[in-house]
Amino acid sequence: MWGGRFSAGPDAIMEAINASISYDQKMAKQDIEGSRAHAAMLAAQGIIDSSDASAIRKGLLTVLSEIEGGMFAFSTALEDIHMNVESRLTEIVGPAAGRLHTARSRNDQVATDFKLWVRGQMDAAIEGLTALMKVFIGQAEAGADMVMPGFTHLQVAQPVTWGHHMMAYVEMFARDRSRFEDARRRMNESPLGAAALAGTSFPIDRHMTAEALGFDRPSANSLDAVSDRDFALEFLTSCSICATHISRIAEELVIWSSAQFRFVTISDRFSTGSSIMPQKKNPDAAELLRSKVGRITGSLVALLTIMKGLPLAYSKDMQEDKEQVFDAADSLMLSLAALTGMVADMRPNEEPLRKAAASGFSTATDLADWLVRALNMPFRDAHHVTGALVKMAEDQGSDLHELSLEQMQSVEAQITDAVYEVLGVENSVASRVSYGGTAPAQVRAQIARWKEVLS
Ligand code: ARG
Repeated sequence: MWGGRFSAGPDAIMEAINASISYDQKMAKQDIEGSRAHAAMLAAQGIIDSSDASAIRKGLLTVLSEIEGGMFAFSTALEDIHMNVESRLTEIVGPAAGRLHTARSRNDQVATDFKLWVRGQMDAAIEGLTALMKVFIGQAEAGADMVMPGFTHLQVAQPVTWGHHMMAYVEMFARDRSRFEDARRRMNESPLGAAALAGTSFPIDRHMTAEALGFDRPSANSLDAVSDRDFALEFLTSCSICATHISRIAEELVIWSSAQFRFVTISDRFSTGSSIMPQKKNPDAAELLRSKVGRITGSLVALLTIMKGLPLAYSKDMQEDKEQVFDAADSLMLSLAALTGMVADMRPNEEPLRKAAASGFSTATDLADWLVRALNMPFRDAHHVTGALVKMAEDQGSDLHELSLEQMQSVEAQITDAVYEVLGVENSVASRVSYGGTAPAQVRAQIARWKEVLS
């Protein structure tokens, strides 16, 4: 009864669940690059005629130009990018195209294509992070002496410098960059020639294709070569940690640009208005940067879950790797570009920063340290005395430096007026000269070191 209507149904749904061409067409260039290297190797090894190989290699370039020119008709019936390209190649060069798939399977083909694609994104991330580090260094240089409050628990803790705060992000993004570099080194082995899973009986030269595709060497185990998606997981891990870092500066920018803080002015180029409240300038870009970590880490968790428990070697589950990685890569590259633009454009507001730096008894630690140094007090006692002075200032609604010497001496008789020197925020930051500390001299040393690394 339903036969007429349903006979094509399952096939259409099978096609819908099975096909990856809607997204894996993103790897067209890598697929063609891999096939061209494979064809050249087959000819060099005498596995196919060199005339067939050159027809294939030339035909593949035609296919690539059709795809890049938007003139290629992708077919869902042909499932994925590999079969779409091969089918079109057959139309262009005829039966010779049928020789391309000798000593190869879609399993090693897709692993190769995907590795090439991910490797390109690792390079893009490294480049994007380098550009981002440079704009943070620019901010640090301009504000190496500018004081601002340092926070713990988002409560004012001790004065720091703007330059120091900016350079903290340089360290974070430098580690992110080295994670991509490290992952790139580890993943740069060629799966091509692993064939379906067991290798091949044809006398192929895997070193030749590996070299042609910029890999350091062929992967050593054919089963592993077609099963491995560690490189995608490491890419997503690196993206997730980087996106986590991005979310932290993004959150700071949201807070800092608020009317309550006014620590920074975000440029109009990276802000939006409100459709109803004319006075509003919203940090939408920063908020979106704060949120991207959600989908990027989501992709990591998705792929970890997809790979978990898969038996060797290839399973179709692994086709689900691509959308996660594509989406995460797009999100990360866009985030890096947006953050770079935003940080390059933003202006720290010196007065509110300074005022906030001096608030909240931020130099209480300096006072305690002075009691230790000048009066030879044990630090614990100094902490106690300082606490009493803070309470006294708080009760009378003043700051520490507004307490009179008599008031101070009522708590600790030996205090002299030399104490006032350490209560100023500039002196406070200038005194923190320990390696990696917030003193402008230390910050300038950090800046100089990174500029040299990046030059
Ligand atoms: N589209 C497939 C994927 O992305 C290509 C590999 C297909 N291999 C297979 N044995 N069905 O994983």
